Amino acid sequence: MYKTIKQLFKVDFNYNIFFTKNVFDIKNKLLINIINKENKNKKKLIIFIDRNVENGHKKLKININKYIEKYKKYIDLRCTPIIITGGEHVKNHDSLIKCLYKIIEKYKICRQSYIISIGGGTIQDLIGYVASTAHRGIHLIRIPTTVLSQDDSGVGVKNGVNFLRKKNFIGCFSVPKAVINDYVFLRSLNKNRLLEGLSEAIKVALIKDESFFCFIEKNVKNIFNCKMEHIEEIIYNCAKLHADHISKGGDPFELLSARPLDFGHWSAHKIESLSHYKISHGNSVSIGIALDCTYSYLIKLLSKQHWKRVIKLLLNLKLPIYSDELSIKSNNNDLLIFNGLNEFREHLGGKLTITLIKKIGIKIDVHHVNIEIYKKAINLIFKLHKKNIYVN
Ligand SMILES: NC(=O)c1ccc[n+]([C@@H]2O[C@H](COP(=O)([O-])OP(=O)(O)OC[C@H]3O[C@@H](n4cnc5c(N)ncnc54)[C@H](O)[C@@H]3O)[C@@H](O)[C@H]2O)c1
Ligand SMILES: [Zn+2]
Repeated sequence: MYKTIKQLFKVDFNYNIFFTKNVFDIKNKLLINIINKENKNKKKLIIFIDRNVENGHKKLKININKYIEKYKKYIDLRCTPIIITGGEHVKNHDSLIKCLYKIIEKYKICRQSYIISIGGGTIQDLIGYVASTAHRGIHLIRIPTTVLSQDDSGVGVKNGVNFLRKKNFIGCFSVPKAVINDYVFLRSLNKNRLLEGLSEAIKVALIKDESFFCFIEKNVKNIFNCKMEHIEEIIYNCAKLHADHISKGGDPFELLSARPLDFGHWSAHKIESLSHYKISHGNSVSIGIALDCTYSYLIKLLSKQHWKRVIKLLLNLKLPIYSDELSIKSNNNDLLIFNGLNEFREHLGGKLTITLIKKIGIKIDVHHVNIEIYKKAINLIFKLHKKNIYVN
């Protein structure tokens, strides 16, 4: 009879999501206070910046230098900020990951050092993965720079890269030291990029908060015209709902097989890979929402009125509700999009769990889907997309 050593221990995690403007203004002490929070020892630091952010903010590097100079007693910036051109491609190359590990080794970044990642969701996912795995974890401060990364991807505890053409196949859960949402970075985003990040906000409103959905609906004109006070409010509310889900939802590291925050995502991830990542995550999520809401309506789970409101909101924001990837067939004449269901199940583990909605703001998990009805849903959103009109 062999003995068993039983183990049980708890670890408390905490991190804050800050909202600010001009984080590298020397008068803004937010960043230095985060770095100095536990002790005032000088900390080694490296910074990664998305090239498109650097291009859009010509004074960024100068401001960073001034900031580091002002606080040099506390920060040892090991090298000039490292520039990486952001976009989904950065998550597809393991040679880039090795190169980043080498940089960490070269500049003697250790577990007490800091890494700052400035960029959209792809840079956050990539640097988050590297920072979590080098030395088994280096303190990471995320500075997300797209609407999507400020309201969703940059504020959570997941990171990862793609492998075998599968989204986020490699990755881990890890808790950042802090997240700083600096709204000034959003100024260099073009309108499409700005709006596509709202799909995650619509998603979280649909599964969790009807009043948030109504807010977006009511202010849709201003939002479409990029009134930043509205966009900032959406980012704050969405990030808060997202963060509350992680800290209060009972499953921060997604050990269960349900993943409500991934509403609309089983098809979204497949659309992204079928399009060879030409269709962005935000736009794919919009299509995924349209598909799953239309399916919810066709199986008589969601009322026609609520379904119409969702489609209308997406169309009013000029977010896509259909793409040709939904209709690509295999040699056997099967729609490839439905492979996404199995890949989603494999990724979560356990039995298939898809989140649908039965009302705006109320989600429901289902374990079986009817592919024939899903095909009808695809046909319906195709027709609406062709007409590009609201449903009556
Ligand atoms: N970890 C998670 O929990 C999670 C959740 C949702 C999405 N994601 C991932 O997030 C990624 C999508 O993130 P995204 O939408 O931010 O895309 P992205 O990082 O590709 O950014 C979009 C484009 O905008 C550029 N850019 C970034 N900030 C800019 C700025 N301020 N000004 C001008 N250009 C800027 C980028 O270089 C890129 O070309 C996907 O890979 C998705 O899988 C992760
Ligand atoms: Zn997403």
